[in-house]
Amino acid sequence: MKNNTLTGIQVTPVEKSKIDQVDFENLIFGQVFTDHMLVCDYVDGEWQRPEIIPYQSIQLDPSARVFHYGQAIFEGMKAYKDDQDDIWLFRPDENYIRFNKSSKRLAIPEFPEDYFFEGLKSIVQLEKDWAKKGRGNSLYLRPFVIATESSLVAAPSTHYKFMIICSPAKSYYAGEVRVKIAESFSRAADGGVGYAKAAGNYAAQFYPTNLAKEKGFQQIIWTDANSHEYLEEAGTMNIFFRIEDTLLTAPNNDRILDGVTRKSIIKLAEDKGINVEVRKIAVKEIVEAAENNTLKEIFGSGTAAVINPIAGFSYKEKEYNLPHVEDSYAGHLKKALMDIQYNISEDKFGWRYKI
Ligand SMILES: Cc1ncc(COP(=O)(O)O)c(C=O)c1O
Repeated sequence: MKNNTLTGIQVTPVEKSKIDQVDFENLIFGQVFTDHMLVCDYVDGEWQRPEIIPYQSIQLDPSARVFHYGQAIFEGMKAYKDDQDDIWLFRPDENYIRFNKSSKRLAIPEFPEDYFFEGLKSIVQLEKDWAKKGRGNSLYLRPFVIATESSLVAAPSTHYKFMIICSPAKSYYAGEVRVKIAESFSRAADGGVGYAKAAGNYAAQFYPTNLAKEKGFQQIIWTDANSHEYLEEAGTMNIFFRIEDTLLTAPNNDRILDGVTRKSIIKLAEDKGINVEVRKIAVKEIVEAAENNTLKEIFGSGTAAVINPIAGFSYKEKEYNLPHVEDSYAGHLKKALMDIQYNISEDKFGWRYKI
């Protein structure tokens, strides 16, 4: 049976939901998917109408270009359910802008705005029971595009598939995070694709991150590719440093992902009267601050964890531990951000988007 959602996207519903088989208390990030997915193909030079169908495998020719040349980009965002059962997205306009920035850099045709937002609304409305109430619970949304044309020619595809898949998530706690500052490997280069959410950026991090893990570190803090003297971002997070009472973060450039959480934290911190400096941060400065005990906090920011405090770092075989800080900036800012996301506090900046 086919029917239509309010927004007019055609929906082919599953015969029976699998929601009863899911243990929502013990979710591992990104492993359980909802009943449906949104698909939209690019053929004949245009994006066709999006459709919602039961979640299923897709079939591609082995020569599909995504497999050989990595022409693929994605976004990561969350839907939050409040105590009245209303569902909210957080600054989805920012994800949409970044989605098309990434697409443009990877020579993928940009995705129409109304399809993106109609698509998000329709799939989230349909899967609303998968978003559970309670702080930390969310429905993680993964819009992405892959190049589907069958051909080994190293050139942009003429066919693409856009999809949105949804995965229920619990609050993400990475445990005590210790990081290694990159001294030789790089995540991104000047003029490259670091600012895009290109699939290959993540694959390229796996090997150096594995080496760091073997030494007991969970993540790498990436430094600039030219000198390795300046701190840029960490794994799938942007990064903040607190020296005395000043919060520091690196400015965006073409190597760094322009994080939605990062820009929201800067705004919230300034609003709370915290002194924020967006400027180049030398490794040397952080090492010195750790040595003279003025380095109070380091934390990563991103959609998955919101804010992830970092307990210590290593640089040139030396390890540095962060002090335990009561009333941390990380704690205050995380609470302020989540209160907005879960419709608990006033939305002073107009960041919430109702589904
Ligand atoms: C490389 C990288 N940096 C930073 C972030 C944080 O961005 P956001 O706050 O938009 O999730 C992400 C996650 O999306 C990422 O993949």
